[in-house]
Amino acid sequence: MTELTDTSGPATPADPVAFPQDRTCPYHPPTGYDPLRDGRPLSRVTLYDGREVWVVTSHATARALLADPRLSTERRRPGFPVPTPRFEAGRNRRVALLGLDDPEHHRQRRMLIPSFTVKRAAALRPWIQRIVDGLLDTMIAQGPPAELVSAFALPVPSMVICGLLGVPYADHEFFEEQSRRLLRGPTGADTVAARERLEEYLGGLIDAKAKEAEPGDGILDELVHQRLRTGELDRTDAVSLAIILLVAGHETTANMISLGTYTLLQHPDRLAELRADPSLLPAAVEELMRMLSIAEGLQRVALEDIEIAGTTIRAGDGVLFSTSVINRDTSVYDDPDALDFHRPDRHHIAFGFGIHQCLGQNLARAELEIALGSLFTRLPGLRPAVPAEEIPFKPGDTIQGMLELPVTW
Ligand code: HEM
Repeated sequence: MTELTDTSGPATPADPVAFPQDRTCPYHPPTGYDPLRDGRPLSRVTLYDGREVWVVTSHATARALLADPRLSTERRRPGFPVPTPRFEAGRNRRVALLGLDDPEHHRQRRMLIPSFTVKRAAALRPWIQRIVDGLLDTMIAQGPPAELVSAFALPVPSMVICGLLGVPYADHEFFEEQSRRLLRGPTGADTVAARERLEEYLGGLIDAKAKEAEPGDGILDELVHQRLRTGELDRTDAVSLAIILLVAGHETTANMISLGTYTLLQHPDRLAELRADPSLLPAAVEELMRMLSIAEGLQRVALEDIEIAGTTIRAGDGVLFSTSVINRDTSVYDDPDALDFHRPDRHHIAFGFGIHQCLGQNLARAELEIALGSLFTRLPGLRPAVPAEEIPFKPGDTIQGMLELPVTW
């Protein structure tokens, strides 16, 4: 049995709340999740179709369950909790890495680990800094106001992941648009069509790389020449991996840059503290990751009965992890709604936990430190150009972030 660390008693299935919900403030969990913040480790919630699944809300239970091989990420399994109807249509496709359990998951992850180590991310810093400087030069030359998502928050990670993978940045408008449709619909047909267009595009790129006698220096080139040619990876999985890396590589970090900027602007005392002591930057990024928890509602399905925290999760039950609530567990974080750069290191789960823990986290940290640090240094007068209530942010059923962030300085 999984270790019992929660003391807060069994889940009560009464009055399940709806999940996911839109945030009322872009950097706090939805107020509709308040009943989930009463100390219970897990509760029942209802999905869009009325089906009840579990949502895990305690830090200790989340870490125990995310490390438990009795929970699967294979979305084709019956009972897998799909948070929105537009993702139903794509459920039957095999998704590489994130959609696979060990040992197959581990086999694929091993191929990619050398490209995403702390050392590799550190070596990329001067290059990332040049990308950030170039974008800020252009923004400053054009003068205020600017729309920060399109001028900065999206192009930084988009250029970085293109360079790393060996995908031409000239095609960025196409793949950014398809990623947007893949994640935010509006319909299931739209989502499926976007995936197919990405498959066609990245499949073509992979085929072209396979014909080159000498590999280029991107991660996709390495995969093609070292894994595809040797038969270790088939074309379908290579294309699926390319999609995950391209989409996860730019969408998530872009949202952290825009929402992180907005959150700092809404906390002028913390921003002043950061400006006065730039050595706080890594801690500030970590605290923003915890507070914003932009990847909300991680999804699993139980393969067997699991006894945990006084509750039985039955085989076939859907299990969601509310990262925003877990990262504000009061038994781990004092005053969890506050932005505080001096917290003792209490491992947040904004990058997940267990075998699927974010592969790109070292890269994401480097990008965030450089992007946020440079933005606030180069533009000391940075502020929103419109009142907060006019700034559009993303709905609750996708990666959290800003749709647009009009700024001036
Ligand atoms: C701040 C930005 C990011 C956030 C918040 C984030 C968040 C996450 C989370 C929560 C997971 C685990 C999902 C689960 O367990 O269901 C994950 C997995 C993953 N992330 Fe990230 N991510 C970020 C940036 C990146 C970047 C830059 C890459 C670059 C390639 C990346 C690639 C991946 C991949 C490949 C996985 C799947 C790993 C596996 O299944 O073994 N992510 N990410």
